[in-house]
Amino acid sequence: VQRTFSILKPDATRRNLTGAVNAVIEKAGLRIVAQKRIHLTKAQAETFYAVHSARPFFGELVEFMTSGPVVVQVLEGEDAIAKYRDVMGATNPANAAEGTIRKLFAESVGENTAHGSDAPEAAAVEIAQFFSGNEIVG
Ligand code: GTP
Ligand code: MG
Repeated sequence: VQRTFSILKPDATRRNLTGAVNAVIEKAGLRIVAQKRIHLTKAQAETFYAVHSARPFFGELVEFMTSGPVVVQVLEGEDAIAKYRDVMGATNPANAAEGTIRKLFAESVGENTAHGSDAPEAAAVEIAQFFSGNEIVG
């Protein structure tokens, strides 16, 4: 089994959709083994998305991610990283496949409901940014 890191973004909490998104996650066979609702600071959001700091949308991205509460999660399952990327769908909801989280719920490429790690190294770094070992209960 593998673990991945997930964020239900501020557009999900604002529209009271965290349970609906979690239902899609669980239906796909991923287990939510850690979860908490937090409000990201600007510094936390900048650190988290540091890889995108040179992109033109970086300021907008940080502003959005700090615009309301998020739910940070650790998901566990067979091939969890790739599976969750599949379950989320394409970054731009206009290109996302039927039944994916972003197709079902996302409003725009910026406000796209969910984050999922894109590689094992990223998952480890991202999980460690938000969870201590004893907060993850498999
Ligand atoms: P994450 O799981 O959130 O990392 O999304 P991703 O891996 O599908 O996409 P990527 O890492 O390339 O981009 C990170 C995030 O930046 C996206 O999820 C969007 O929220 C945001 N983003 C990407 N492209 C754009 C854009 O053109 N405009 C805006 N406003 N935001 C963007
Ligand atoms: Mg990404």
